[in-house]
Amino acid sequence: MSLKEELTALKEEALKKISEISSSESLERIRVEFLGKKGKLKNILKTLGKLEPEQRKEIGKLANSIKEFIEEKLKEKEKQLKEKTLQEKLEKERLDITLPSFWHDIGASHPVMSTLVEISEIFLSMGFSIEEGPEVEYEEYNFDMLNIPKDHPARDMQDTFFLNNGMLLRTHTSPVQIRTMLKNKPPIAIIAPGRVYRKDADPTHSPMFHQIEGLMVDKDITFKDLKGILKIFLENIFGKDIPIRFRPSYFPFTEPSAEVDIGCTVCGGKGCRVCKETGWLEILGCGMVDPNVFEAVGIDPDEYSGFAFGLGIERIAMLRYQITDIRILFENNMRFNQQFKGIR
Ligand code: PHE
Repeated sequence: MSLKEELTALKEEALKKISEISSSESLERIRVEFLGKKGKLKNILKTLGKLEPEQRKEIGKLANSIKEFIEEKLKEKEKQLKEKTLQEKLEKERLDITLPSFWHDIGASHPVMSTLVEISEIFLSMGFSIEEGPEVEYEEYNFDMLNIPKDHPARDMQDTFFLNNGMLLRTHTSPVQIRTMLKNKPPIAIIAPGRVYRKDADPTHSPMFHQIEGLMVDKDITFKDLKGILKIFLENIFGKDIPIRFRPSYFPFTEPSAEVDIGCTVCGGKGCRVCKETGWLEILGCGMVDPNVFEAVGIDPDEYSGFAFGLGIERIAMLRYQITDIRILFENNMRFNQQFKGIR
């Protein structure tokens, strides 16, 4: 076979093999087989030097064009292969954008908790600190030491959850006053948030609810201090222009005692169903610490004076968010709770 024939045969062989290539690995192998340093083309051209210059030129030209031809074909094949793999990948990794996705919902702060936190922050900013007490309480701390007489109706089996061991579920946060005054000497400025329990259940009463107790004891604390502090608190919660009134009242553990009302936030004082046509909403109980309470905890009432107050957190939350049935707060219905997303 002449060199020319050999080259033509090589071209045919390469063309055939390239057309059969199906992977980039075999493409590389074929490139080396034909065009590599020890490849078939180089091999044929080994004897080129022995030819006449004229012939050498002609064969050299032919060899070059065959080399370029094979390179071109390989390039084409490479392109085809790339397209094919891309196509396969697209096919295999197809995304179904109509599938429903996973939904990670964000949580919401419970309205009772966010109200509790907000009230606490107002008192913390005025220098009060937070005290906590147990929900299972001694009768002594919940009643006796708070100057509540043995025959007071609140002690009735109807109102208080008594436990078999002689203890009870605290009916208010006031026993934390007793615990704090037994533990610390004045000056005292604390708030005590927490759960309390009473045998009560209707649209505005839940057997478990939350209160915040406040207590300030020092020399020369007067009713003016009580009014000033509560005014700052109520204006922070309900707005600067909220009407506030103090009504004389009675609690065994304070003397004098008062109940504090705010102008009805629903009707603006005109009278409506929520304020029972009075234009006022009862918001908290308060008063000057009764000397009998000071004596029970060993604080000299001639040296010290103080005030205390207590308020229900649900009541405030219900007014703020216009909730009319307290029970909905504790049903854990997600459709209710989710509405408070983004509200702190
Ligand atoms: N403990 C009272 C109640 O639960 C509220 C209160 C606290 C009143 C402190 C006066 C002083 O109703």
